Amino acid sequence: MTRHDAAECQSVGLAPMEPVHAPAVLALGRQVYDTSVKPYTSWSLSAIAGHLDAEAPACWVAFADGALAGFVLGSMGFDQRADWGNLEWIATAPAHQGRGIAGRLVRACCRTLTEAGAAAVVTDVESRNTASAALMRRNGFVEGVTVTLFVREV
Ligand SMILES: CC(C)(COP(=O)(O)OP(=O)(O)OC[C@H]1O[C@@H](n2cnc3c(N)ncnc32)[C@H](O)[C@@H]1OP(=O)(O)O)[C@@H](O)C(=O)NCCC(=O)NCCS
Repeated sequence: MTRHDAAECQSVGLAPMEPVHAPAVLALGRQVYDTSVKPYTSWSLSAIAGHLDAEAPACWVAFADGALAGFVLGSMGFDQRADWGNLEWIATAPAHQGRGIAGRLVRACCRTLTEAGAAAVVTDVESRNTASAALMRRNGFVEGVTVTLFVREV
């Protein structure tokens, strides 16, 4: 545990996400994701519900002083691989960034997926999102295949 993790642990609590958290999670996502561009255009209540309603959800929220400070949304299954866990969405509220919250959320999500039988956990990171890439590398993820979205303007 790093120094910032230790400081954050004292004031920020993690809990499994419940349906009652969905409005705050949706609002925080709208605040931090640019939903006008890929891959964030699919951010929606249905995207949240898809993970929360899954047979094996791995969704966690972080609270600081009674307000949502971060979330992670994942569940078992990635494409056709039922034995892979998918960590799809993660965010920390701007006021709380850089204090170890996302790291704790990643580890909680991965632990839940491992307990559910995941042989691997997969996440995708947009190429310009250096903070997210560093977060994942810091937590044991290794870069796999790169997929580039080609767009033909009409
Ligand atoms: C990416 C994001 C979730 C990181 O949240 P955070 O709580 O600030 O991250 P942490 O404090 O837990 O940092 C953990 C590690 O991530 C890396 N990291 C986090 N923010 C970083 C930044 N701005 N630049 C470089 N590395 C960063 C570091 O390696 C850090 O570990 P270290 O400080 O021990 O070196 C946050 O910046 C965010 O919400 N961004 C907007 C939403 C987003 O892009 N989500 C990902 C796509 S779904």
